[in-house]
Amino acid sequence: MSQVFNPSGTRAEILGCGIFLPGDPIPNSDLSKLMDTSDDWIRTRTGIEQRYWVQGKVSTSDLAFEASKRALENAKVEAKEIDLILLACLYPDHEIPGASLFLQRKLGLSGIPALDIRQQCSGFLYAMSIADSFIRMGMSKKVLVVASEVQSKGLDRTTKGRDTAVLFGDGAGAVVIGAKSVTDAKKDSFIYSHHLHADGNFAESLWIPSPGTNTEGHRITHEILDQGGADLKMNGKIVFQNAVTRMPEVLVEGLNANGLTIDDVDLFVFHQANIRINDYVADKLKIPSHKIHNTIHKFGNTTAATIPLGFGDAIQAGKLKKGDLVATAAFGAGFTWAASVLRW
Ligand code: COA
Repeated sequence: MSQVFNPSGTRAEILGCGIFLPGDPIPNSDLSKLMDTSDDWIRTRTGIEQRYWVQGKVSTSDLAFEASKRALENAKVEAKEIDLILLACLYPDHEIPGASLFLQRKLGLSGIPALDIRQQCSGFLYAMSIADSFIRMGMSKKVLVVASEVQSKGLDRTTKGRDTAVLFGDGAGAVVIGAKSVTDAKKDSFIYSHHLHADGNFAESLWIPSPGTNTEGHRITHEILDQGGADLKMNGKIVFQNAVTRMPEVLVEGLNANGLTIDDVDLFVFHQANIRINDYVADKLKIPSHKIHNTIHKFGNTTAATIPLGFGDAIQAGKLKKGDLVATAAFGAGFTWAASVLRW
């Protein structure tokens, strides 16, 4: 599904961005104290050098709140101007209700709609497409789109869980999206298009089976927990093979829909699951390395939060500026994959 380029009427623009990472970075060498792994294995297989993990009673909405405050400040928008909150995350604060409700409460915005988006690594791009649509339909004027992940609390930090535990990190990124009347479609800052895909045939290739309703009895039992039913399960090779196919495919779909080429794009911000996946995408599409902003070495895979963390980190590094043409692509559990093209 694509929302394609049509500059007439009201469009949506990113007004500001904020990011938050909890505590101090945890180097690979610290993980080898917890499980049978090594800095060399993690670096060479994934590109990850460190990640952030929350300490103590810190929740998804806590990280989201910190990133949201920074995004509002960066956008010079007051919280009370926001009329819709979208929060993409893997693990909410609680099973019910969604983490967006806790974020809404922390922001003091009771009354406005708040929605959780559960599309894993593509969640932020799915959320942006919803924000874009609400603004273009005239249903919203200023939307807070947040992606926040506390994955560390769902990881098995023993040798049994090492194939996934070393990959994932915590963090949050947020953007404020506002209505924009486009006068110069070639120069104005606005979101051009989103391209969303999913294939439920691969649902079990990267998933957490429990708690769930696909059981004979209660949705969570001691037996299910003892058998590791609530742990993240991944077929890394299948994920890898599909990611290297789908990411370039959806990126090209996004560029073609807007009549753009690789050369037109100033910055590519990709999901960060494995540096080898991104290198493969870059090689396949002949994207020069200076046009790609990778963060996996610093943050690990932060699932939905990865793309906004990439935006924020690129801004801090001086690589993303107002007026830049940006292309993004993500791939993850579901499988879901997506791309967005926008002028920052
Ligand atoms: N430290 C040390 N050894 C590890 C390890 C770790 N953290 N995790 C796995 N291993 C071992 C395996 O047990 C295996 O040992 P064996 O050969 O004795 O059986 C060996 O390393 C190779 O494992 P393998 O799974 O073949 O490695 P790989 O080259 O496929 O890399 C991934 C594994 C997970 C890094 C890779 O498959 C990947 O990145 N997949 C995509 C994952 C992804 O993107 N997930 C998120 C989606 S958004």
